Amino acid sequence: METKIFKPAAVDQAAALIATGQLVAFPTETVYGLGADATNVSAVKQVYQAKGRPSDNPLIVHVADVETVERFAKPLSVAAKKLIKAFWPGPLTMIFNLKPAALAPEVTGGLTTAAFRNPNNAATLALIRAAKTPIVGPSANTSGKPSPTTAQHVLHDLDGKIAGILDDGATQVGVESTVLDLSGAQPAILRPGAVTAEQIEAVIGEPVLTEQHHVGATEVPKAPGMKYKHYAPAAQVYIVDRAQDWPAALAWASKQAVPMGVMATDQILTTNRIPVNCERFSLGEDVNSASRELFAGLRHFDTETEIKDILCQAFDNHGLGAAYMNRLNKSAGQTHFSV
Ligand code: TXA
Ligand code: MG
Repeated sequence: METKIFKPAAVDQAAALIATGQLVAFPTETVYGLGADATNVSAVKQVYQAKGRPSDNPLIVHVADVETVERFAKPLSVAAKKLIKAFWPGPLTMIFNLKPAALAPEVTGGLTTAAFRNPNNAATLALIRAAKTPIVGPSANTSGKPSPTTAQHVLHDLDGKIAGILDDGATQVGVESTVLDLSGAQPAILRPGAVTAEQIEAVIGEPVLTEQHHVGATEVPKAPGMKYKHYAPAAQVYIVDRAQDWPAALAWASKQAVPMGVMATDQILTTNRIPVNCERFSLGEDVNSASRELFAGLRHFDTETEIKDILCQAFDNHGLGAAYMNRLNKSAGQTHFSV
């Protein structure tokens, strides 16, 4: 099949494809999603097929309004309503208990809960409204690979496998939404994102469990997706933890007989001597730009160079840094450069 690219002005054509059960990738403020009608079981099954995604890993339901959530979910708590008011549209996904049989098991992975998100992208909100249905949307990458932050990334992974891509340029946040579980006794962050635990606590006035608290090594992760390999480029990534480790890391890189990749802020790239066998990829100036560029950098070395080893800068593990480090640790398989 030919994968058509639609600009936001042609959103109605993209919506017509969704309404007839076809797959269209869509932009959000975080990463591109792979869209299908959430109420059409055969369309939802095609999403798993196109991505090569395990069928027990449930999908996020993207909505244009709260009323759609209320159609499927049990009555929302006061905390949920406050969070919706504070952060929607935006990079916060919330997991709610469902009314019986409200969504197909293909959407929920057979769970009695589902994840809902109201993305902050005008073209995609128009897409959902014009298709007149909520849209499931896992990240629009081949399962296991870094998430796509441009339409070109989506095309690289899914060209010929999906009907279309709604192209609204590069995404702004760059790492996927915060996933907050509101289905149990205590709110729990299952995946860190741009909406932080501190911000959530400030809105609801109660403590939020974070990943570190509730996923023990032997425990089954609560977000089914967290047990699978993620964000893994073909290259090996080495995390460089501290600014003062760069001279040693670059000295080590210079001794390797192969080309190497270096992903770091301009500050690091300009204050260190970068060896001739190293290709640089700028992460910009801070954790915001680094989060926006992380997946693009990993994809750049995989698809446009022969590079098999990448040194990549760490950030402090708080605020947006917690989301950045969560993705970087998975990309690197927890491999750190050690001095
Ligand atoms: O920013 C994002 O969230 C992007 C854009 C496209 O919206 N979407 C995204 O979807 O990252 P996906 O499918 O790649 O990640 C969704 C995560 C998975 O780890 C999945 O296991 C978890 O949310 N999840 C979905 N429904 C769940 C549920 N009912 N209970 C627990 N975890 C759930
Ligand atoms: Mg994903």
